[in-house]
Amino acid sequence: MQFLNLLRTTTFRVAVIYLAIFSASAFLVLASIYWNTAGFMARQTDQTLDAEIRGLAEQYNQRGPRGLADIVSRRAAEGGGSLYIIMAPGRRFVAGNLSGWPQVKTGADGWINFTYDAEVEGGFERHAARGRHLILRNGIDLLVGRDVHERQKIESRIVSALFWGIVITGITGLIGAVIMSRNMTYRIETVNKTSREIMGGDLSRRVPVKGTGDEMDELAGNLNAMLDKIERLMLGMREVADNIAHDLRSPLNRIRNRLEVTLMQEADVDAYREALEMTITESDELLSTFTALLAIARAEAGAARETMESMELGTLVADTAELYEPVAEERGLKFHCDIERTPRIWGNREMLAQAVTNLLDNAIKYTSAGGEVGISLKSGGPNDYSQGAVRLTVYDTGPGIPVIDREKVRQRFVRLERSRNTPGSGLGLSLVSAVAQLHEARLLLSDNDPHSKTPGLRAMLVFPIHEGADIQASEPKDLSQSDHRSGEMTHTENP
Ligand SMILES: Nc1ncnc2c1ncn2[C@@H]1O[C@H](COP(=O)(O)OP(=O)(O)OP(=O)(O)O)[C@@H](O)[C@H]1O
Ligand SMILES: [Mg+2]
Repeated sequence: MQFLNLLRTTTFRVAVIYLAIFSASAFLVLASIYWNTAGFMARQTDQTLDAEIRGLAEQYNQRGPRGLADIVSRRAAEGGGSLYIIMAPGRRFVAGNLSGWPQVKTGADGWINFTYDAEVEGGFERHAARGRHLILRNGIDLLVGRDVHERQKIESRIVSALFWGIVITGITGLIGAVIMSRNMTYRIETVNKTSREIMGGDLSRRVPVKGTGDEMDELAGNLNAMLDKIERLMLGMREVADNIAHDLRSPLNRIRNRLEVTLMQEADVDAYREALEMTITESDELLSTFTALLAIARAEAGAARETMESMELGTLVADTAELYEPVAEERGLKFHCDIERTPRIWGNREMLAQAVTNLLDNAIKYTSAGGEVGISLKSGGPNDYSQGAVRLTVYDTGPGIPVIDREKVRQRFVRLERSRNTPGSGLGLSLVSAVAQLHEARLLLSDNDPHSKTPGLRAMLVFPIHEGADIQASEPKDLSQSDHRSGEMTHTENP
């Protein structure tokens, strides 16, 4: 059954077609070998016989029947496989080394294939022969022939060698086709098996990679990469669903309970109003949480990828800084802004603006009055000597985030214990992290000033430069705007 399946595979069919073409060409080669060996020998014999019989006919014309009989008798005595016979009219034997005229009729072309009793060591043996038959003047029959026993033996050897050659070619080819398709089928079957297991619900299964680096390995590698991506997305979706189920249920319950309690009491208009206002406030918070969750899911799923464009961050950073500067000052914080002209990156404006907003919001929220908050945009990676990147930094002089919590705070709904009394839902850094991932950027969290009692937080986004974009080709209007603004801010705000 399995073998029959093998015969249906594409590899097997391709191998068989190849085998057919190969066999046909092998057949042609062997046929030409036959034509040049056995065929050549046969033609050679015929030519010799033809020449000899013509010579004898000539002799007969010149020297008459006696002369011919003399020559034939002489040649017949020489032996060596040459056969002669001359018969007078009425089938009377005249001369020759054949005991009698062959019992076969001459063909229309004058050729005759017959057998005769050849003399061999210790007796007679029936041998095949071929001869030329000529009827001379006065009704004399002349036959000149050759013993073709040896030649036919060689010929049949050649034919059987050719036959077996083709048979062996066919058999080895067929075995090769089966082995080849078995290998291919085996490797495809591993892919099929993995797909079935995944469809069965085990999304963690992967196609085995052999490490040969061939096209099957490449296929397996690509499939695995695709599966990784799908698994990540699925986990993300599941996480969002879990988050909604757990973290949005309690505020909704709270709203519902408050409304129920208010309805049960004999309350006055003011109490109702107060309950409704609180409901609106909490609903707004719920809505913003929803929005943030969706934005994170969107960024993680890469849905915003279609709206990405080649852009430079200067304007965006300057605009956001301009918005947050008064907020910071209102809270008694010193605000710094330092924007350099940087190469273009590949980004989504809306998502990036939201990320910068979240970082500035945190810096301002968690830094107490008298502290400092700043934003900067520079060329190069996290170290001044690393090239080919753009780094956006938001820093503050607040309490900072302890090293052990720096991974945790990127998760959804994670808020540090000391932040319990400040408003927030713990989604800010999750969104920044998702936006970073969408832009293939790195989000680095570190101390702003490790030696200070309040180390502060330094959140840095390191973007890869958009390769295709020409730095000089950036829209001049945008650049001048951002330069102008950053210049202004650096001038007024920087110490
Ligand atoms: N600049 C900062 N300084 C000190 N701690 C910070 C800073 N930024 C974030 N954190 C800590 O990380 C936690 C997670 O931050 P995140 O922005 O994700 O949520 P949040 O600010 O609490 O709420 P949200 O941003 O959703 O309003 C915060 O609760 C806070 O404890
Ligand atoms: Mg926040």
